[in-house]
Amino acid sequence: MCGIVGYIGKKDAYPILIKGLKRLEYRGYDSAGVALLNNTNQLNVYKTKGKVADLEAYASEKDISGCIGIAHTRWATHGEPNSTNAHPHIGASGNIALIHNGIIENYAVLKQSLQEKGVQFRSNTDTEVLVQLIDFIKTDKKVDLLTAVRTALKIVIGAYAIAVIDKTNPDVVIAARKSSPLVVGIGEEEFFLGSDASPIIEYTDKVIYLDDEDIVVIDRNKKDVEIVDFNNEKIEHEIVTVELNLAQIEKGGFPHFMLKEIFEQPDCLMDCMRGRINVEANNVTLSAIIDNKEHLINARRIIIIACGTSWHAGLIGKQLIENFCQIPVEVEYASEFRYSNPVINNQDVVIAISQSGETADTLAAIELAKKKGAFIYGICNAIGSSIPRATHTGSYIHVGPEIGVASTKAFTGQVTVLTMFALALGKERGSVSEEEYVRIIQELNNIPEKMKELLKIGDDVKQISRIFTYAHNFLYLGRGFNYPVALEGALKLKEISYIHAEGYPAAEMKHGPIALIDAEMPVVVIATKNALYEKVVSNIQEIKARKARVIAIVSEGDVTVKNMADATIELPQTEECLEPLLASIPLQMLAYYIAICKGKDVDQPRNLAKSVTVE
Ligand code: AGP
Ligand code: GLU
Repeated sequence: MCGIVGYIGKKDAYPILIKGLKRLEYRGYDSAGVALLNNTNQLNVYKTKGKVADLEAYASEKDISGCIGIAHTRWATHGEPNSTNAHPHIGASGNIALIHNGIIENYAVLKQSLQEKGVQFRSNTDTEVLVQLIDFIKTDKKVDLLTAVRTALKIVIGAYAIAVIDKTNPDVVIAARKSSPLVVGIGEEEFFLGSDASPIIEYTDKVIYLDDEDIVVIDRNKKDVEIVDFNNEKIEHEIVTVELNLAQIEKGGFPHFMLKEIFEQPDCLMDCMRGRINVEANNVTLSAIIDNKEHLINARRIIIIACGTSWHAGLIGKQLIENFCQIPVEVEYASEFRYSNPVINNQDVVIAISQSGETADTLAAIELAKKKGAFIYGICNAIGSSIPRATHTGSYIHVGPEIGVASTKAFTGQVTVLTMFALALGKERGSVSEEEYVRIIQELNNIPEKMKELLKIGDDVKQISRIFTYAHNFLYLGRGFNYPVALEGALKLKEISYIHAEGYPAAEMKHGPIALIDAEMPVVVIATKNALYEKVVSNIQEIKARKARVIAIVSEGDVTVKNMADATIELPQTEECLEPLLASIPLQMLAYYIAICKGKDVDQPRNLAKSVTVE
């Protein structure tokens, strides 16, 4: 779950690598390192614990010259995050340096066998085994670097994106992938490598997305890269043009990516609905539904698989699909599903939801469901990522790159796509009434404007946040469509402020969590005027009777709850099934401002990474 960058060409590699690492820091940031081949073909490797800025400070006085280099920002899986375990790792000969994203599952056996042959290891990582193995094969068998890499990868079990440089082969970078992402950028007499396209797009928009078991040989004296498989058979790949724009991935004047991403949600949702919703014609179309009608209309059951925030969106998706399509829906954590021997057949449709499109558990769950014959529909954000490529069809959420580790705009984008999916499929199946179909489409189209209005509450939420930073625990309650919103609100708070928070269906409170309630425990309640309003009002009475402070999310103009609660945030009126799109906004802001008041690093919270490409 780390970030990989590589450069080979005529320019100084170091500034390009450092800039690239900073763009990829969302993937991991416990340590960082760089390997450079200077003009006399000396291999210089610098690595430190901490962030890319720490690496820069460390390398500032060193020889950072050279037009070929590889760099890495790490999220440790094996071996504590320190400078020894940081990548790049170097082979015993001192000639080869390697960076790696993923996990080598059989590293212990390989390590032991290499140690028995006299190879000395320096780190506690699984990664080092790869470089030592390549180095050992190259020296022992007297083969070239490509053969050594190919031979080693045939032995290795696990997930990897790697890049290798060799000072005895100074015009070449070799890279390969299996189950971890890797992109090659094609410039004018220069080439780039990245875990995604963000470190590359400043220099070129021409890229190749590598597939599993591709090995790419990049030679700075050649015009084209060469891609081979493990048997050295040539593979042709299409060069594609990326449409990612640099301003999209920069902060745009906001202090943090998370805040920028919260505020851009109205625009993101418009992008998400563009070309899909036609308010004049009262119509919603998703091309993936039109192209795969048979599979979808006749689905016996839909299983939604996802992790974290995407799983919360899935819980809302269940209610939407069951309401409008009358198809039973199950929502599973991908990590549980993949090991659960699920009963699935070719009448089932699996919807895989993932912002990054790289989550290892979700990918594995997709492969399992595919093997059992299910039809797989992806709902992803990152274009060209592994999940959209592994699914039969799908819809992108089109909310642009999400950099803040805590997911915000991807959540509302996922819920928007799920709403459009449920309406479009419901229409095809004839299970939604024309009146309801039109009403929800019209209102979905109004959501970006209502969200824009709602976002003006920023200062109020900031004030409320100041009052509640003392708390060590929070409870979030909601019902129906707003129950997953409560779960998501609690996750946001946990992730970035490190305050323990739990989300519950409001009516379940009396079955246990009520025991936790006292004056020290703030309770956030989503109490909008919908079918269950009166019931939630009773829950608030129960909470107040136990002296807890209540932050209530209410419908515009509500006085009943306002008089009971300690703080209230008003939401514009909307359709009940669309409330999550609005109710999640104040909860994202609450988490953000509480974390800021506590001085936390909201964009890169401890122990987390944006894209979880390991189990
Ligand atoms: C969200 O704030 C989290 N950082 C995390 O739960 C995330 O949603 C989860 O890891 C799934 O990621 P994905 O959507 O990229 O698959
Ligand atoms: N397994 C490697 C390590 O611990 C790489 C981790 C990653 O991909 O984040 O160093």
